[in-house]
Amino acid sequence: MLLRRCAILYIEPRDDLQLDLRVLFSGTNALDSSVRWVALAPHIGRELDISDDEMLALGKIGAALWVERADCEQRHSKEVIARLLELGLLIANGGEAGEPKQLAATRDRDEALRAQHWHSLAALTHTFTRWEDVCAETGTRFPSFDLLQAEYGPPPPTTLEFDTADDNVVLPAAAEGPLDSALLNRYTCRNFDPEASLPLALAARLLQRTFGAQEQRLMSPTASAPGAMALKKTSPSGGSLHPMEAYVLVQRVDGVKPGLYHYHPVRHVLQPLRMLEAEQAYQLAFDAVANQHWFANAPMLVVMAARVERNFWKYRKHAKSYRALTLDAGHLSQTFYLLAAEAGVSAFITAAINEIKVEQALDLDPLKHAVIAICGCGFAAAEKTMVEFRQGDLTGW
Ligand SMILES: Cc1cc2nc3c(=O)[nH]c(=O)nc-3n(C[C@H](O)[C@H](O)[C@H](O)COP(=O)(O)O)c2cc1C
Repeated sequence: MLLRRCAILYIEPRDDLQLDLRVLFSGTNALDSSVRWVALAPHIGRELDISDDEMLALGKIGAALWVERADCEQRHSKEVIARLLELGLLIANGGEAGEPKQLAATRDRDEALRAQHWHSLAALTHTFTRWEDVCAETGTRFPSFDLLQAEYGPPPPTTLEFDTADDNVVLPAAAEGPLDSALLNRYTCRNFDPEASLPLALAARLLQRTFGAQEQRLMSPTASAPGAMALKKTSPSGGSLHPMEAYVLVQRVDGVKPGLYHYHPVRHVLQPLRMLEAEQAYQLAFDAVANQHWFANAPMLVVMAARVERNFWKYRKHAKSYRALTLDAGHLSQTFYLLAAEAGVSAFITAAINEIKVEQALDLDPLKHAVIAICGCGFAAAEKTMVEFRQGDLTGW
């Protein structure tokens, strides 16, 4: 059998602090610390404890070339190699009769990761910062500035001041412009009308003008591959690749059944993926936005999930590519907010999401589809119970 290390692996010395109550009562330093090795491999997606010997073996077996298992066992012991294979940190080349299913499964995950061309730190950041069952802080005032201030003192000032008063270039006030109304009315809504539904034409305009493509263009005049197309949208995108897919969770849109849909940016259609009862749709929204009930009842939510291989096709293992994906989501969300404001509805974005719940609902592989954020929109309720910065009411509460 041949072996190699998995494609991406980071090992962290992790401190564990323990409080020894008996020592505490005797009046001496009661904190004890121990350090252990934690292996972080994106194709596995959960932390693994490894021993000193296993850590050393991983530092000697490369991720590119296949080597003989027998040689590795001779150098690092049979037990070490067997455990690293079992954990999925070493990959077997396969092809042997009776190969355990688990070895084939981890090889598949490792190959899926290799095929995407992630920058290793980005793969690590993305896979290990996803949430599954997190419940975001709740309360009548959000965020709780009073609590933060009590704990940490006042926040850093709102901006930088330089000692340049005499030389400052005084600028004219912004002239009025056609975008002003949308820009100045944009705010993050945390009080949606729980009954109101979105007119279909309004939902369709928001989707098309935010996520729809005005046109498809060949990436270069000489591009010969049939898929070598760039998309032109109203927001910018790194490399004009627009890898962000919009998955729409419909709760109350006139004429559209509650459920999960994929928005097709060229055909301008909602492709039904899963029909849901209204309560199921609400529960999914609630779980997805980490129990932020102030967003969960929006009539339409949009999950932004980047198809990473489209971006990484050009920006292979690139240090900036993951940053570009999150910037793409930010641009799209601001466009969505402005269109909502223009149409007289209100919008939100949240990055505090249970990505794993969303991946499960949409059957997305996190190595291939990076769920980045969720935005949504709807009519604002007249009554406010949650803090927000509505135009004309900038106190927030
Ligand atoms: C990337 C990002 C993530 C956000 N996540 C949350 C969130 O989890 N919960 C929330 O209530 N607001 C969230 N917001 C909204 C901000 O709190 C909001 O933009 C800010 O309070 C300023 O208010 P405004 O948008 O009305 O100007 C997020 C905004 C951004 C840009």
